[in-house]
Amino acid sequence: MDSRQQRNKVISSDEWYTPQSLIEKLGSFDLDPCAPMQPLYQLAPMTFNKEQDGLVQEWPKDAFVWLNPPYSRVLLRRFVEKLAEHNNGIALLVNRQDNLLFQEVIFPRAKSMIFMRHRVKFLRPDGTSGTPFFGSCLVAFGEEANMRLRRAEIPGKYVILNYP
Ligand SMILES: C[S@@+](CC[C@H](N)C(=O)[O-])C[C@H]1O[C@@H](n2cnc3c(N)ncnc32)[C@H](O)[C@@H]1O
Repeated sequence: MDSRQQRNKVISSDEWYTPQSLIEKLGSFDLDPCAPMQPLYQLAPMTFNKEQDGLVQEWPKDAFVWLNPPYSRVLLRRFVEKLAEHNNGIALLVNRQDNLLFQEVIFPRAKSMIFMRHRVKFLRPDGTSGTPFFGSCLVAFGEEANMRLRRAEIPGKYVILNYP
C-alpha cells in the first residue's frame, strides 16, 4: 500500500474516538452504542461495540446516550435515526447540513445543535490525537440533551431547531 492509500485508509476509518475533555464538558452518559473494540477510556458504563452491534441492541429506555457513530452512510443514518427515536442523547457528527441525514432526520426531529468553532482533536486507537479535515457539530435529541448543549461551554454557535 503506498502512502496515499494508507492516508485514505486512515481518513475513511471509523476509528476516531471522542476526546475525554469534550465528554467532560457535556456531563456523564449512560450508554455509548458505538464503542471501540478496545476503548482508550470508559466513556459510559454501558457500551455496545461492532461485534455486539449497537443497532440491534435495545437501548434502555432512560439511558442518556452518547453517539459518535461510524461514518459509513448507511450505518450513520441508522444510528442517528435510532437516537432520534430514543430521543435522549447527544450526537457528534460531521458538519454536512446539506445532506439528507440533516434535511430528513436532524432538522425535523432534533431540539438543538452546536456548530463547533474548533476542529475536534479526535483520539486514534494508539492514543495519539489527530484533527480530521472536517468540522463537527453536536446535535441534541430530547430536553436533557438540549439543556446540556445550552449550558456547555463549547465554543461555537448554539441553535434551537425545534420548539418547545
Ligand atoms: C467514530 S468511532 C467512535 C467511538 C466512540 N463512540 C467514541 O465516541 O469515542 C465509531 C465506532 O463505532 C464502532 N462501530 C462500527 N459499527 C458498529 C456497530 N454496528 N455497533 C457498534 N459499534 C460499531 C467502530 O468500531 C468505531 O469504534
